[in-house]
Amino acid sequence: MNDRILSGIQPTSSMHIGNYLGAVRHWVSMQDQYDTYYCIVDLHAQTIPRDPEEMRARSLELVATLLAVGIDPQRAALFIQSHVPAHAQLAWLLTCLTPLGWLRRMTQFKDKAGSKADHDALAGLLMYPVLMAADILLYRPRRVPVGEDQKQHLELTREIAQSFNARYKVDFFPLPEPYIIKQTARIMSLRDGTAKMSKSDQSAAACLMLQDSDEDLRRKIRKAKTDSDLLPETPQGLVRRPEARNLLTMVAALRGQTLEHAVAEFAGQPFAPLKDALAQEVISTLAPIRARIEALLAQPAHLKAILADGAMRADAVARETLRQVEDIIGFLPRG
Ligand code: AMP
Ligand code: TRP
Repeated sequence: MNDRILSGIQPTSSMHIGNYLGAVRHWVSMQDQYDTYYCIVDLHAQTIPRDPEEMRARSLELVATLLAVGIDPQRAALFIQSHVPAHAQLAWLLTCLTPLGWLRRMTQFKDKAGSKADHDALAGLLMYPVLMAADILLYRPRRVPVGEDQKQHLELTREIAQSFNARYKVDFFPLPEPYIIKQTARIMSLRDGTAKMSKSDQSAAACLMLQDSDEDLRRKIRKAKTDSDLLPETPQGLVRRPEARNLLTMVAALRGQTLEHAVAEFAGQPFAPLKDALAQEVISTLAPIRARIEALLAQPAHLKAILADGAMRADAVARETLRQVEDIIGFLPRG
């Protein structure tokens, strides 16, 4: 059987081009070679208070978006995390193997909890990476396609897996590797080339959303921050020029070129032609995706049927892993 691949994305807002170029685009290409499981992590989204109607709408929108970018539900199992109860169940068991210190040192926890880290931060925020480890380990994948920001969570997943194997003297969980495509692992904000493009960014101008209109995309790219030099002749010239690097990285990724190639094309030019080229690539990629999202959102029953099928396939794998874990731990079977 093909190796399994598992990845997840939060249904917290619409998808931006960082999610797409950094992670989801690779989900699409992996469907051909692997047995793939893609999970919309609604349990993770609860670590921050959400409006219930908004949660429902965003979850459905994300399914439509994933299908629109090319996830094929005949091949990949596309499912909602809360539809497969083994995720929450394994998460509890792994919580009992995870020292608090490992969780407190996670940079995402420190960033999100901020000054509340000692007292008022919600426990779910601290436990977030354990739930992610459960998501992954249930499918026992060798590789997990993610952006750079998830690398530390993958390291923790490996530590938890090792800790389980050692505690019960078994070789049960394979240690999953992050699968990160270096060039696009961190797409940066359009307003600040040193900050990652993020759904939680205050400024809408920082993110190119998959559902933005052509006009919005063009405007955001036109206003994107630049510096005052001409574009460099070589990739080495991008050191300390994060905005130039980011725009060139996006153009190259959308065209399927190397960064070197894009640098050579725009060498010595001002930013304007690069921005024009980027706007053209972004629009020609995103406009058909946007049209497909809209068409899919008009068929909620179809989306729900895909999710039901995805959950059934994921549940079969996850339930069996959980059964084996419970056996290793020494739980009595239900009989
Ligand atoms: P999230 O939206 O946080 O659930 O992330 C979904 C996936 O997109 C994860 O694999 C992230 O690592 C990836 N991702 C998020 N933001 C970026 C970014 N700015 N550049 C590259 N990948 C990203
Ligand atoms: N934490 C990931 C993010 O914010 C989402 C996620 C949850 C995930 N479970 C996962 C990613 C399992 C990969 C595998 O992007």
